[in-house]
Amino acid sequence: MGAVHAACMAELGHDVVGIDVDESKIENLSAGRAPFFEPGLGDLLSPDNARLRFTTDIAAAEHARVHFIAVGTPQVAGGVAADLTYVNAAVEALLPHIGPGHLVVGKSTVPVGTAARLAELVAPTGASLAWNPEFLREGFAVSDTLSPDRLVYGVDNRDDRAAEVLDEIYKRPLEAGTPRIVTDYATAELVKVSANAFLATKISFINAMAEIAEVTGADVTTLADAIGYDARIGRRFLNAGVGFGGGCLPKDIRAFQARAEELGVGHSLAFLADVDDVNLRRRQRVVDLVTENLGGDLMGKAVTVLGLAFKPESDDVRDSPALDVAQRLVDAGAIVRATDPEAIETARRIRPHLDYVESIQEAISGADAVVVVTEWHQFRELDPAEVAGWARGRVVVDGRNCLDASDWRSAGWTYAGLGRP
Ligand code: UGA
Repeated sequence: MGAVHAACMAELGHDVVGIDVDESKIENLSAGRAPFFEPGLGDLLSPDNARLRFTTDIAAAEHARVHFIAVGTPQVAGGVAADLTYVNAAVEALLPHIGPGHLVVGKSTVPVGTAARLAELVAPTGASLAWNPEFLREGFAVSDTLSPDRLVYGVDNRDDRAAEVLDEIYKRPLEAGTPRIVTDYATAELVKVSANAFLATKISFINAMAEIAEVTGADVTTLADAIGYDARIGRRFLNAGVGFGGGCLPKDIRAFQARAEELGVGHSLAFLADVDDVNLRRRQRVVDLVTENLGGDLMGKAVTVLGLAFKPESDDVRDSPALDVAQRLVDAGAIVRATDPEAIETARRIRPHLDYVESIQEAISGADAVVVVTEWHQFRELDPAEVAGWARGRVVVDGRNCLDASDWRSAGWTYAGLGRP
């Protein structure tokens, strides 16, 4: 988020310095290289761009009047709450470099109450604080930042300047008609986590329907199309499959529940535990489908896993259902070979023992079963007749319901989707 935000703020015409403690990231960004796969980001980075530079020196913040905090808030080790170490460290590091007239703007996803606490830390410097949550999606990060759905400013109600400063920063998207909501800190913080909780709930709802479809012979994709025509429901985020992952939805719903518990209203978000459970069950369902279709035992079976990233157009494998399925197949005794157009290197860092290959054909060659767990277009567009010439078996498990079942069946495959007959 930080790298994209820095590059996009420069693109909006501001003079930007991006600061990080990670030297290799700064080195890459300074050389005009995106340190991760994100469409469009590379085009905004250039060592010759005078409005955009990167450094590890926090004192460079003195050059600016507005300081965005865009560090991560991962799940704490061994728990479910959000780890605020990096947010706290970033604000502490800024304190000696800010003063009257400066605005610190939080973008990180934080438990409600964090902004009010940080505002007290910032106040003695004479600077003020706003909370401006980020709603970008990986894979669309640049366009979501330059043309957001909405802008939300959480401000102190005694501070008239903060919203004015943010309006100046976001002048271009505001002029293009982006809705803007100015509110208090708590509401702004909650907008972010409740939006992600709603999206996670929507996905788990349709995945729960997939579970019902599986015992009734119904088709969840047709069901999603039909209920999606109701404008109050909407078709987006109703794709049933192996479920949600990534660096946001899973940890955000857990941290939100943890915060609600602390606030004494844990019961209000108790349903998010079910949302999480449904989601995790779908990963095992994919493994079970492979097992059933390979005669009940995976021991020694060659299985190809197509996809490692948590979704297409990303190399992010944090809490990736695809990578989890690959691991579960290995644990069940299968000989797994995996591929992904962008995420092999990131996957290798956390699961070094898996067998990765670049080429789709090589990955499928000799396989007893093929499993699609990330719906990259490279996999959706595979020709089932051609793939039949590479594989040994004819079992395809579509963990994203993204293949044309009738095409694959006509080419002689046993096709199994999630929540589909
Ligand atoms: C999510 C939100 O969509 C963003 O609005 C938010 O800003 C971001 O988290 C964040 O908090 O930073 P992102 O994690 O990039 O964005 O990914 P999504 O597009 O939301 O997808 C999340 C997961 O849900 C993926 O694994 C995807 O495959 C899965 N998904 C999505 C489904 O299983 N079914 C669907 O219908 C849609």
